[in-house]
Amino acid sequence: MSFKNDLFLRAFTDEKLPRPPIWLMRQAGRYLPEYRATRGKAGGFMDLCRSPSFCAEVLLQPLDRYDLDAAILFSDILTVPDAMGLGLSFGVGEGPRFARPLRDETAVKALAAPDMSTLQYVFDAVAECKRALTTDGVQRVPLIGFSGSPFTLACYMIEGGGSTDAFPLTRRMMLQRPELFQHVLDTNVTAVTAYLSGQVEAGANALMLFDTWGGVLAPRLYRELSLAPMQKIVAALKSKFPQIPVMIFSRGAAHSVAAIAASGADGLGVDWQSDLVDARAAAGPHVTLQGNFDPLLLTTDETTIRRELAKSQEGFDSHHRYVANLGHGITPDTDPALVEVLVQTLRSS
Ligand code: CP3
Repeated sequence: MSFKNDLFLRAFTDEKLPRPPIWLMRQAGRYLPEYRATRGKAGGFMDLCRSPSFCAEVLLQPLDRYDLDAAILFSDILTVPDAMGLGLSFGVGEGPRFARPLRDETAVKALAAPDMSTLQYVFDAVAECKRALTTDGVQRVPLIGFSGSPFTLACYMIEGGGSTDAFPLTRRMMLQRPELFQHVLDTNVTAVTAYLSGQVEAGANALMLFDTWGGVLAPRLYRELSLAPMQKIVAALKSKFPQIPVMIFSRGAAHSVAAIAASGADGLGVDWQSDLVDARAAAGPHVTLQGNFDPLLLTTDETTIRRELAKSQEGFDSHHRYVANLGHGITPDTDPALVEVLVQTLRSS
């Protein structure tokens, strides 16, 4: 495979780069009017995810507007528990809901990794996204595949949706019925390993594990129940696909940067509540860091963005093993014009 722009992949080597590669978590999404139009044509969010051609359409939207160095598969982390039969839905203006959450022993014991054929629509979306990025055998930018982490998926599967209170049902099962909780994690490890392998086979050039909720745990429990399962996945993927960079993004886990860096992952996401300089000191020089601008900056103004970007990178070598990104996903109230300001400011850094 040849790339028109492979800067993102080169950030996973020891090469000193002319500038840091840039992409943005949730770069395809509701802040873009053209995304909202495509979602309208598709019907709803899951209809969009189930249509490879619409996925490719929204994947390209941010790349056509901004000068970005990577594309991310358009899908969601909750496709996997949906394939396990939990019954995913997204109400209008609401977060995700599962019709059949894992609330008791019977439900947990019946849980099994899904047959990957139920997720064929995601692998088809990867292949279609790849096709849309490629002209005359040359791929515009690398394509990132992704999954939720076993712990973060377990949070949604047990709680039945999001939580404003650090997932109490999930943490109660974790504390009181550790063997049931472990079964959920083990099932997720098996499912996520197969799911990410399928994405690589369909054409993904790099992989990312989104561990949005690992940070609700105390450091000891984070390492045991969030990082350890991710580490199993990373080990399996690295032995099958040694050339594919794998990143871990655990939000709120600054306490464990050194452990994440030692996990075998090639890169780690730094959230907006951490410092890049501290993360580098804890991670050492051989792991790629990605982050960590506050997504809220994209709802402020040009002067604020320029000032904060300069300050947050003081004393940090952004040309070596670094991918510029936000410290969490773009929010729907983002001003698309400010995304342009952010990208252009980073380009000249
Ligand atoms: O551009 C991209 O980054 C690619 C696509 C992507 C989506 N979700 C699309 C999406 C990715 C990488 C995700 C990951 C994801 N999904 C995470 C981990 C990252 C994070 O933000 O912490 C999580 C926790 C989810 C679960 C999820 N999906 C929630 C909680 C919600 C509803 C809340 C929200 O932010 O809207 C979704 C819906 C979702 N996933 C949307 C998009 C574009 C919005 C749905 C819509 O169009 O109405």
